[in-house]
Amino acid sequence: MFVEQNVPLQAWNAFGIVAKAHQLVRIGSGGDVLAVLADPALAGVPKFVLGGGSNIVLTGDVRPLVMKVEIAGRRLVGETDRAWIVEAGAGESWHHFVAWTLAQGWPGLENLALIPGTVGAAPVQNIGAYGVELQDRFDSLDGVDLTTGKPFTLDAAQCAFGYRDSVFKHTAAQPGDLGLAGRAIITHVRFRLPKAWKPVLGYLDLERKRTETGIAEPTAQQIFDWICEIRRNKLPDPKVIGNAGSFFKNPSVTPEQCADIIAREPNIVHYPMPDGSVKLAAGWLIDACGWKGKSVGNAGVYEKQALVLVNRGGATGGEVVTLARAIQTSVYERFGIRLEPEPVVV
Ligand code: EPU
Repeated sequence: MFVEQNVPLQAWNAFGIVAKAHQLVRIGSGGDVLAVLADPALAGVPKFVLGGGSNIVLTGDVRPLVMKVEIAGRRLVGETDRAWIVEAGAGESWHHFVAWTLAQGWPGLENLALIPGTVGAAPVQNIGAYGVELQDRFDSLDGVDLTTGKPFTLDAAQCAFGYRDSVFKHTAAQPGDLGLAGRAIITHVRFRLPKAWKPVLGYLDLERKRTETGIAEPTAQQIFDWICEIRRNKLPDPKVIGNAGSFFKNPSVTPEQCADIIAREPNIVHYPMPDGSVKLAAGWLIDACGWKGKSVGNAGVYEKQALVLVNRGGATGGEVVTLARAIQTSVYERFGIRLEPEPVVV
């Protein structure tokens, strides 16, 4: 197993923060994972799994062994009368995978176009956008438990998906619980793409596109193109301005809490959820506190979308974290709501 030393990570984290991996191995297959775990010099050392680096904030050099997932491959692995089952290696680019499925004539992932990162990272936070979440199209995934060396396969129920949440974000509270945070590497992910495809057009931005273009019944490719345009208009391209997408989750409150806030803040953007809770737009809350366009050192709040923190050039992870904490404090002081960060602080 070839171990690279002192590897710069700036190009491999979407914030573009300057940091190094003390040791790094590139993982090209499930076999590579097993080889690392069988290597006496590497087996016992702490490990950090790096996908596309789209959802992390590096606050310094990374001391654990970085396992950089580069597992490639995309293929149809099954077909029923209802669905195509499509598999991708965890190291594939998510967006390229989405584009490829559409080119093959298998729609279903178009609302998730242009989300940065890799296929293997997508289930970890159950990526979602414009009315579709990964869990809606998920079949199963393969991975390896880094603590036991055992390969595993999980279905959707075992992944315990929630809003920007899964088993991969939780540690086991007690023996027997399936908490896999920090101890699993995902190697392959399979998707179930329905043959009876129906467009998901409920979001206001998509309705606007329909009106603007006069296309009442868009194809999946048309929706893909619209989503790309919408995202390019409001979200910064990490290749140009470092960022990790939405920095906070949209918080959920009870209808009573929401009514109480509305009494004080009549314009608050809120969405009733099927489970009876109410989701608030974190971007609106942050914007209302006057953060849009503000900075702490070289870390800032994006001018067009207050939910996105950006690297204005040379930001450290510490500056990003300080800015995030200041935002959390002011949102808490004004609205009594605790914002929960989305990215993992390393
Ligand atoms: N808003 C403001 N000011 C802002 C930003 C937003 O008032 O600075 C208001 C908007 O006007 C809108 C509402 O807040 O009424 C919601 O904004 P938007 O439609 O941009 O969506 P979001 O809730 O901020 C979520 C996801 C995005 C996803 C979009 C579309 C989360 C944390 N974020 O953003 O996901 O693309 O919906 O579905 O759920 C990501 O996770 O990285 C991400 C980009």
